[in-house]
Amino acid sequence: KYWNVEETHIDKNDTHIIEAAELLKRQEVVAFPTETVYGLGADATNEQAVQRIFSAKGRPADNPLIVHLANKHQIQEVVEDIPAVAHQLIDHFLPGPLTLILKSNGACAGNVTAGLSTVAIRIPDHPVAKAVLEACDLPLAAPSANRSGKPSPTTAQHVYDDLQERIAGILDGGPTGVGVESTVLDCSGDIPVILRPGGVTKQDLEAVIGEVAVDGALQNEQEKPKSPGMKYTHYAPEAPLWLIEGDVDFFRDQIQTLKQAGNKVGVIASTELAPSLSADWVETCGSRQDLRQVAEQLYNALRAFHPEEMDVILCETFPKEGVGEAIMNRLTKAATQKVTQT
Ligand code: TXA
Ligand code: MG
Repeated sequence: KYWNVEETHIDKNDTHIIEAAELLKRQEVVAFPTETVYGLGADATNEQAVQRIFSAKGRPADNPLIVHLANKHQIQEVVEDIPAVAHQLIDHFLPGPLTLILKSNGACAGNVTAGLSTVAIRIPDHPVAKAVLEACDLPLAAPSANRSGKPSPTTAQHVYDDLQERIAGILDGGPTGVGVESTVLDCSGDIPVILRPGGVTKQDLEAVIGEVAVDGALQNEQEKPKSPGMKYTHYAPEAPLWLIEGDVDFFRDQIQTLKQAGNKVGVIASTELAPSLSADWVETCGSRQDLRQVAEQLYNALRAFHPEEMDVILCETFPKEGVGEAIMNRLTKAATQKVTQT
């Protein structure tokens, strides 16, 4: 089933939303937009429904899912307790692109948390996500709605391309706004730790709760990540991706060398750099002056290349400031190598 809910003013009484909610109540999986990326939802309290998510995505069973909730009151129904710092974060950032890891009370199915004692919760800030959550009146386990290993979907078309034959329905609410996934913050210990950089930046968090730690594995590739999902290759386009760290002349030289060796070369670059680069295909991804724009357009750019078309894709790098942390985290995971100007 494919429902277009893009143009309508949407709430839980919309006929498409009710239809989608009925499927979810019958343990089916349905994709829906959130403000970050599209999610693939299923009843978080039902083991079989959740298993369908893992099967549809081809996701490893040891990678836990985020539980999506309609409102703040539902948090206490799935967690053991809400520490003071989590209360502050909930007040300031939810609904929004922040996921909190808290101690689980066991209300969700065991496969949602992959057997961990903690549970990830998030309240999406998107009218369609909110309407579905309210209409089915269930906590919904929802990972990004891509096949495992591919970039997360920022349009319903991306979801369709990856999963159309494997899921019961797709709600099309148009392109998502943030474009990268939520920030995952572990609040189950003494100090909050960022496990995955995302839509809410470290500075945003620190302005509200003071110092925040960052999981060592995000800085040092030798360390084992605390978030199970962060150890997998992710976000990768279909051809090898090289990150190019250097000025425009260096970028042009790299393209030239690869072309002379007979390669078809694709490029992902900002609106500032793109006009100076000539390759077989140049995909732009927003302005360097506005990293929010780059985040919004990044996954669409990564998905723009098809396997037969390019031998290699060269991508610009961005400052690790604000949402640039999330951008560079995803690009580094997607890339096969980095080429740095000396
Ligand atoms: O923006 C988002 O967060 C999107 C939208 C759909 O909400 N969802 C998303 O889900 O990105 P997913 O499954 O692709 O990523 C969830 C991340 C994974 O890295 C997973 O390992 C981590 O959260 N995670 C989930 N539960 C966890 C837990 N209990 N402890 C540590 N990490 C956890
Ligand atoms: Mg994902």
